[in-house]
Amino acid sequence: MRILVTGGAGFIGANFVLQTVAERPEITVTVLDALTYAGNRTSLDSVADRIDFVHGDIADLDLVDELVSGVDAVVHFAAESHNDNSLADPWPFVQTNVVGTFSLLQAVRRHDVRYHHISTDEVYGDLELDDPERFTESTPYNPSSPYSATKASSDLLVRAWARSYGVRATISNCSNNYGPYQHVEKFIPRQITNLIDGIRPRLYGAGRNVRDWIHVDDHNRAVWDILERGRLGQTYLIGADGELDNKSVVAALLAEFGRDPDDFDFVTDRPGHDMRYAIDSTLLRSELGWQPRYRDFREGLAATVRWYRENESWWRPRKEAVEHAYAAQGERTLPTH
Ligand code: NAD
Ligand code: DAU
Repeated sequence: MRILVTGGAGFIGANFVLQTVAERPEITVTVLDALTYAGNRTSLDSVADRIDFVHGDIADLDLVDELVSGVDAVVHFAAESHNDNSLADPWPFVQTNVVGTFSLLQAVRRHDVRYHHISTDEVYGDLELDDPERFTESTPYNPSSPYSATKASSDLLVRAWARSYGVRATISNCSNNYGPYQHVEKFIPRQITNLIDGIRPRLYGAGRNVRDWIHVDDHNRAVWDILERGRLGQTYLIGADGELDNKSVVAALLAEFGRDPDDFDFVTDRPGHDMRYAIDSTLLRSELGWQPRYRDFREGLAATVRWYRENESWWRPRKEAVEHAYAAQGERTLPTH
């Protein structure tokens, strides 16, 4: 089987490629990645001689058509992925997430290639802290940010191409991932690298927002289950019952670094900040037999902290620019709640 992995130099895509090469040596992998600020080719150094890497844009119709014509399946990770950036400048999100997905769909339609679309639980909007419900495959779409609106748009394109043109597509909507190779702009790596640098972690608002954490390897195993055995046209939610508020995540990190539990700052909140995400992954578990392997968040977090300690050369070149961007976006410390 030959697969095209878009966004394979990003966080989840790189972990997917590393896992695929290690566990499925019979698969031929081509990566298509534009190497934006979020892409890092060195994440794939250990498998460089086992994959084909193409530096290019998913919105380039001719390039995409040529690459898709030579594979059996496309796994589409490439995206602009950070909510804060989408608030500051939404245009690249529309271009990559919507137009880029359109370009891939046209190619898989033309060449009748199997397509798996990676999406997010954020398309469903957010839940109240005390809501007993969780997101399911039938929750109505209600995105809040420019990022999640463009991801929702791309999901709807996939659904339309599956229904109207018979494209052999599946979609997965996953919750918040953590693990190695995640860009330092994101919550957990930002706080880990802050702590390594002796900077206090930064919590948006009151730190009460809840995210449903899953280890990136568990996400990627689910993607393979869906690619191989998922029903065409079906959406699957991926989540590992990992709900935690942001303050608890920071508390776990402070404990990991042997720091005082109060050693953090509250900073300006994100506009429109979604309060809570929570996934009901019953369909994935009952139909495809998927189970998460990382069941203890604190163990997974400790391993992730070790990875950032041991791989400073991977993240250090990007750290200063990220902190500069947050400052330029107006982030400032708030009085303690
Ligand atoms: P990331 O920002 O770390 O990586 C994105 C990758 O896409 C980068 O390598 C970048 O260079 C590449 N890219 C961006 N624009 C491109 C373009 N026009 N053409 C080709 N490549 C381009 O993102 P991530 O966190 O790994 O997320 C991957 C996918 O998973 C996204 O679709 C995201 O919406 C989805 N997702 C992420 C999470 C999460 O917690 N990070 C959770 C659920 C779903
Ligand atoms: O739910 C899936 C989504 O998870 C993915 O679709 C996105 O691509 C991914 O970036 C992530 O979105 P979030 O906005 O939830 O992730 P982020 O890491 O930006 O923030 C996680 C939480 O932490 C959120 O409530 C905001 C908060 N936060 C973030 C940063 C960067 C802080 O409190 N302090 C921070 O410094």
